[in-house]
Amino acid sequence: MVNSIASSEQATLRPKIKPPVQETLLTPRFYTTDFDGVAQMDLSGQAAELEAVMTELRTDYNRYHFVRNQEFKQSWDHIDGETRRAFIDFLERSCTSEFSGFLLFKELSHRLKDSNPLLSEAFNLLARDEARHAGFLNKAMADFGLSLDLTSLTKKRSYTFFPPEWVIYTVYLSEKIGYWRYILVHYHLKQHPENRFYPLFNYFENWCQDENRHGDFFKVLLRSQPNLWNNWKARLWARFFLLTVFATHTLTVLERSDFYESIGIDAHEYNQQVIQNTNETAKSAFPSILDTNHPEFFPRLEQCAIANQKLTEIASSKTFAFVKWFQKLPWIAVIVWQMLRLYLLPSINAESFRNTIN
Ligand SMILES: [Fe+2]
Ligand SMILES: [Fe+2]
Repeated sequence: MVNSIASSEQATLRPKIKPPVQETLLTPRFYTTDFDGVAQMDLSGQAAELEAVMTELRTDYNRYHFVRNQEFKQSWDHIDGETRRAFIDFLERSCTSEFSGFLLFKELSHRLKDSNPLLSEAFNLLARDEARHAGFLNKAMADFGLSLDLTSLTKKRSYTFFPPEWVIYTVYLSEKIGYWRYILVHYHLKQHPENRFYPLFNYFENWCQDENRHGDFFKVLLRSQPNLWNNWKARLWARFFLLTVFATHTLTVLERSDFYESIGIDAHEYNQQVIQNTNETAKSAFPSILDTNHPEFFPRLEQCAIANQKLTEIASSKTFAFVKWFQKLPWIAVIVWQMLRLYLLPSINAESFRNTIN
C-alpha cells in the first residue's frame, strides 16, 4: 500500500511536521481489503448507474476549487486559546480521515489496473479528490504552524483488514456522513457569517459534493451485489454499520463540542441532524435503516458519549495502569449495554420503499 503512492502526490501532502495524536478507537483508521475480491465483483446489474457516476467523476467539477485565495494570506495568531486548540484538532482529524480514504482508493486503483480497468479508473478519480482534500487541510494546518507528516503516518499507522462487503457498507456511510457534516456547517455559517473565523469554511459547499459523488459510487457497488441487501444477514450488517458509524460520530462530536461552539453550533443538535440525514440518505442504498426518531435513540447514544468521556478522563489520570483498568470496566459495560439496546430497537425496512425512492 505504501509504495503505490505517487511521488508527486507525496510531495503535495508533505508540509511541516506535527506528531499525530495518540491512536484510539475514535481516531480515523487506515484500511486494507481483499483486492481480488473487489476485482471480481459483477457490476452488470448497475451498469447504467455506474456509467452515470463515472461521467460525474470524470467531469471533475472541483478541478479548480481547492486553490487557496488571498483570504488565507494573513496571520492567524488572533485565533488562540481553546478555539485554536479545538480547530487544530478538527483539522488533524479531518486531514487524517481524508488521507485514509486517499490511501485505500489509490491502492484499489493500483491493484485493479489489469483485472478491472473501469473500477481502477473510478478509484483513481476518488483518490484524486481525497488527495486534494487532505492536501488542502494540511495547508490549513501549516497556517497554524503545524502540519501532519502524512508520509510517516502512512508507514507508522496500523492497517485494519475489512472484507470488500464491509468496505462497501462503511465507506458508503463515511462518504454520506461526510457530505452531511460539511453541508450542515456550510448552511449554518451562511446564516451566521460572523462565526466564519477562517476561510476554509468557504470551500465546504463544493467540497461536500465530492463526498456525495463518492457515496453515490459506493451505492452503485452496494446495489450491484444482491447479497448485500436481499437477505436477513445483510439487514443485520447494515444496521450494525449504521449504529457503529453513528456512535463513533456522537462520541467524537460531543468530545469536541468546543470546536462546534467556536463556530456557534450546538454539538448535540448538530450530531442529531447529521445522523438523521445520513440515516435517511442510507434508505436509498441499505436494506434496513435505524429508527432515529425512537425516543430512546439519541438518549442512549449520548449515554455512550458520557461513558466515553469518563474513559478519557481515567486514561489521562495519574493512577497505576491496573487501577485504571478496574476504573474503566463499568464505563465500558455502559457503552456495550447501550449499544446492545440500540441495536435491538425497532428498525425500518428500506426495501419496502424501494420503488418510491430515486
Ligand atoms: Fe474527502
Ligand atoms: Fe470522499
